[in-house]
Parts: sequence; structure tokens; C-alpha cells
Amino acid sequence: MDRQYTRLDEARNIIDPIIKGIKDEEAKRGAYVHLYGVGLMASLIALKRGYSREVAELAEIAGMLHDLLTYVDRNEDTDDHAHKCADHAREAVLNHLKSFTTEELDMIYSGIYNHSDKHVEGHWFDEIVKDADAAQHALRNPVEDYFYNAPRVQRVLQELI
Ligand SMILES: [Fe+2]
Repeated sequence: MDRQYTRLDEARNIIDPIIKGIKDEEAKRGAYVHLYGVGLMASLIALKRGYSREVAELAEIAGMLHDLLTYVDRNEDTDDHAHKCADHAREAVLNHLKSFTTEELDMIYSGIYNHSDKHVEGHWFDEIVKDADAAQHALRNPVEDYFYNAPRVQRVLQELI
């Protein structure tokens, strides 16, 4: 069976050249590790929570985009970065995707926009992105307490393992 060309491929075809264009090699490495790591975690969490593969696809895209601007422009790594990343993702990527409904693109945007609000519980889709972000940080180094012991991380890990 041939591999399908999916909506995720459509998104990756826009996201990958942006990451490849990052001049700073360390920022580029960080972008691949963290963004694709959070994308993978978001997909896993969505499926674990019983959502469809299509929702997992949206979650993966939100994960891949959630911090993209902070790697493209290192000056944007601020408290407000989630909102700036959401606007950047909309302009640079979401507005160019043809295979998604407006509601789906708004969900991805919202997941990115709200991903820093980890102290509050929001919309179920936003929570997938937040949990994936927290879990990716923790699982990159499971013996480091700083991320691992965060209540949100503990909750996600109990759910997954
Ligand atoms: Fe992140």
C-alpha cells in the first residue's frame, strides 16, 4: 500500500522549510527536538484520551507550531511568546493550509495561543497542547526534578504509563 499524502504532510511542507531556514544551528536543533517532540506527545495524548486520529493530527500540528517563532526569532522567547507564536503560526503556516476547516485552524491557533497558561485548565484541545509541552520537557530528561515533579507532568504521566 502506498503512503498517503496527508494533511499533516501539507503542514510539514510549510513548517520544515521554516525550520531549515533557521541560521543558528543550536536553535535549529532545539526546534526539531522540542517542536516535533511536543507534536508527537500531543498526538499520543489525544489518542489516549479517546479522540479521533483527525484530532490527533490537529494536536500534532499545534505541537509542531506552538513555539516556532521563539526559534525563528530568539528575541521572542518572552512571557508573551504564546500569543506571538500563535499570530506567527497563523500568518506563516495556518493561513496557507488548504485542507482544514476554519474551525480546525481556530482550534490549532487556540492551542498555541493558550499553551503558556499551564496553571489553569482550559478547553480540552488546549489542555492536550499544554500537557504535551510539559511532558516533552520532562521526558527529555526523566531524572531531572525541575520538570518531572510539576503537578501537570505527574498527572499526564499517570495517564500515560
Ligand atoms: Fe514549548
